Amino acid sequence: MNQNEALEEITRLSEELNRHNYLYYVESQPEISDYDFDMLLEKLQKLEIQFPEFASENSPTKRVGGDITKKFESVKHRYPMMSLSNTYSEEDISDWFNRIAKLVEGKIEYVCELKYDGVAIGIQYVDGKLTQAVTRGDGTQGENVTNNVKTIRTIPLSLNGDFPADFEIRGEIFFPLKNFLALNNQRREDGEAEFANPRNTASGTLKMQDSKVVAERGLDCFLYGVYGTGNIRPGHYEMVEKVADWGFKIPKNENRYIEKVDSLEGVMEFIHYWNEERKNLPFEIDGIVIKVNDYYLQEELGFTAKSPRWAIAYKFKAERVETILESVQYQVGRTGAITPVANLKPVQLGGTTVKRASLHNADQIEKLDLHLLDSVYVEKGGEIIPKIVGVNLAERQSNARKIEFISTCPECATELVRTEGEAQHYCPNETGCPTQMKGKLEHFISRKAMNIDGLGAETVDALFEKGLVRNCADLYDLTFHQVVELERMADKSANNLIAGVEASKVIPFERVLFGLGIRFVGETVAKKLAFALKNIDAIMQSNFDGLIAIDEIGDKIAMSIIAYFEDPKSIELINRLKDKGLQFEVEEKAVASNKFEGMAFVVSGVFNAFSRDELKEVIVSNGGKNVGSISAKTTFVVAGDKMGPAKLQKATDLGVRILTEDEFIELLNN
Ligand code: IVH
Repeated sequence: MNQNEALEEITRLSEELNRHNYLYYVESQPEISDYDFDMLLEKLQKLEIQFPEFASENSPTKRVGGDITKKFESVKHRYPMMSLSNTYSEEDISDWFNRIAKLVEGKIEYVCELKYDGVAIGIQYVDGKLTQAVTRGDGTQGENVTNNVKTIRTIPLSLNGDFPADFEIRGEIFFPLKNFLALNNQRREDGEAEFANPRNTASGTLKMQDSKVVAERGLDCFLYGVYGTGNIRPGHYEMVEKVADWGFKIPKNENRYIEKVDSLEGVMEFIHYWNEERKNLPFEIDGIVIKVNDYYLQEELGFTAKSPRWAIAYKFKAERVETILESVQYQVGRTGAITPVANLKPVQLGGTTVKRASLHNADQIEKLDLHLLDSVYVEKGGEIIPKIVGVNLAERQSNARKIEFISTCPECATELVRTEGEAQHYCPNETGCPTQMKGKLEHFISRKAMNIDGLGAETVDALFEKGLVRNCADLYDLTFHQVVELERMADKSANNLIAGVEASKVIPFERVLFGLGIRFVGETVAKKLAFALKNIDAIMQSNFDGLIAIDEIGDKIAMSIIAYFEDPKSIELINRLKDKGLQFEVEEKAVASNKFEGMAFVVSGVFNAFSRDELKEVIVSNGGKNVGSISAKTTFVVAGDKMGPAKLQKATDLGVRILTEDEFIELLNN
């Protein structure tokens, strides 16, 4: 393919992908399968690697992330980002309404909208391309989070139609509940602390350095204001409709996310409707925003120091009930993490009966100063899992017993440990605590790990109770006769189980590594670790510095990996699994060339044509090796923007050749 053809194909693929992205995420009406979409994306990715000069900043490949933001620079807002005046009282809403009615003659149109509970964002488009996305910050200046915002699928990277040349659109980035729950499930499985609520997690996610992680989390965005377009439509409602033509996802009137009304009754009806219905939304809202629709009236009404006079927010009261704390129970996770759970006297809250509330950890119990049989306040406000927010001290009995966090494991009585700086207590008896042992087995056979056909949690329990398996290596010793003896186990199921165990021996190394259930080594970390070090022996021999040099591996994960392999029981387990024939090294991908054979690369900084991961992949697929830190043995350092000065100095001192991105591409092409 020559340059002209490449450019044409890249443009065509980008447009096609943008269209399918829009159909899928904004319209929810996909025309092609996920697989076909991935194939198109892969085609584009490959072309962009081959012809990096045509890889645009706004290519659909940016959706998958990979750009690293080391420091979020501070950016001044072109138009200050104000807030809204808030109230919890309907009376205030009616006062506001009457005030406006007095100031303005004739019938006034109002727009009622949801008040999305997320993080405000201002996104700039120049010539139809997303150029910058900035958080609210202090209202005058915020942080540049462009790389991360580009991964949000409902935010267009390129616009269609008759958009203005340079404008800003504002909205709220939020965590859809489904994705938030999935993230927390994953974290629980990985033995990591769960996030408390979607709003704070959305905010934290937006400020993560690795945009790939942001892409995986699945944030979403609704838009609620446009700046710098001139009054190309008479009012806010019409403008919102207009921006849909350019490719934005807007709140729809048909599901009552937005509504135009002309009376106080209309406003109140909207408030009452959503006060009830909000529990059925797939995202969280914390109130209703009411805006004067007409742009000229908005201008006339103007602003106070902090907020517009033409809008007001009605905030829902977090629903709160009082009930009795009957007991505290402690759950043991598969990595030994102890989670305290409050058992409550059943009470109605937000349409469901609440019997339990999460207490997170010992600090939380201490902070609330909980005593047994306390009358506690329970809320389901911003949190999905009901939460104890306080104690009605007037109701406390004088002899009430303070809740003391347990000191031994409720399942195996081993003394609990708590590492300095960590909130969670752990049961350290990883290989002897029955709950952890069963949890580890269930994790090992789970879909994303070994995915063993014919074996489910119930059977694992039965095998464990019979004493037939204690750890995952024991699964490979099972015989048909042992299995068929189990209750409710027919010949066919027993055969399936044995065949499933046998078949799992070809599962790739990264999934075996994940299946081992090392604390803090989730699916992504296992992949990074496996691909960086290639085999189990290299991982076992790695020291702290070697581990933290790998993408996404920080102090906490590195220490956990080291601790795992320092335990002789882990080594024994791995040796047994090796003997059984499981995969303990990554299968090398087909190589594109061997021009980098024998060369060791250190990749550092931020690149234009590639994400860091892509660049590393190019090195490997051409026979080279990626190493974490610079030494005399390093052949090249590929230096992107913002590479640290210490690394640069070290490379210079050791006489290692430094390549710019362009020089690297040249080396690759010659
Ligand atoms: S309009 C001049 N509309 O609430 C302010 N804001 O305290 C214009 N918010 O920072 C804001 N949903 O992050 C507006 N439908 C909506 C909103 C909304 C959520 C947030 C926004 C703002 C805060 C106001």
